Amino acid sequence: MSDPRQPHLVVFTGSGISAESGIQTFRAGDGLWAEHPIEEVATPQAWRRDPARVLNFYNLRREQVRRARPNAAHKALADLERQGFRVSIITQNIDDLHERAGSRNVLHLHGEILKARSTVDARMQYPLPRGGIELGDICDKGSQLRPDVVWFGESVPHFGEACEIVAEADMLLVVGTSLAVMPAASLLEHTPLDAPSVLVDPEAAALAPPGVFRISQPAGKGVPELVRHWRREGRLWVPETLLG
Ligand code: APR
Repeated sequence: MSDPRQPHLVVFTGSGISAESGIQTFRAGDGLWAEHPIEEVATPQAWRRDPARVLNFYNLRREQVRRARPNAAHKALADLERQGFRVSIITQNIDDLHERAGSRNVLHLHGEILKARSTVDARMQYPLPRGGIELGDICDKGSQLRPDVVWFGESVPHFGEACEIVAEADMLLVVGTSLAVMPAASLLEHTPLDAPSVLVDPEAAALAPPGVFRISQPAGKGVPELVRHWRREGRLWVPETLLG
């Protein structure tokens, strides 16, 4: 059970944290957007033009997520929470690997692939424990279902809530994101002035904005190491030996 008197770790994750679980990132040379152009599968215009193609794209992603397993980074964060640290996770990821690792406090900024939602009423959501969404699958109001994900050009419904969480951080741990997408990346600007931010990403040296500590390692190595230090000392801090 998280203890509200404990220092508050806010974790902001991107697709890089799930890379070692076998889920593709987006912007690498061999990333998802190189294979499937954004404007053909991840915009409202794409949906209007060719909904079958969009559904097929997300049906394939969903199968990939179901096959994947949480890795050492997801597990370390869940272990930290189990030990009594106060941990809030804000993820850009649409997979459920944080939850399957055992994290209980997870906010999905860009939606969840394992849910469908109505195209006429976003509040009408349906879990997808198996199978995909096909043309003709309808909500209780009779309209086509779509994946419960945020497409480019759509608003990010939980962004305000995410800003409030970050504003209460004692430390912000950012993992596996190129910080290329707004408004998500601007979350880093909402940390309190005395709360350090640290980025764990193999490309951290190139990606971290000024003032953000860099740990240039894959998530499956860098996150468990950080967590080991925190658990051993019972506090959140930035070990200099891991930086670089
Ligand atoms: N561990 C940690 N980070 C890694 C690893 C790894 N093993 N492998 C790759 N990365 C890093 C890359 O260095 C890169 O910085 O993951 C990051 C992935 O960046 P992007 O592909 O841009 O993905 P992300 O930042 O998650 O994208 C944000 O953009 O397309 C939208 O909605 C989509 O949520 C997504 C958002």
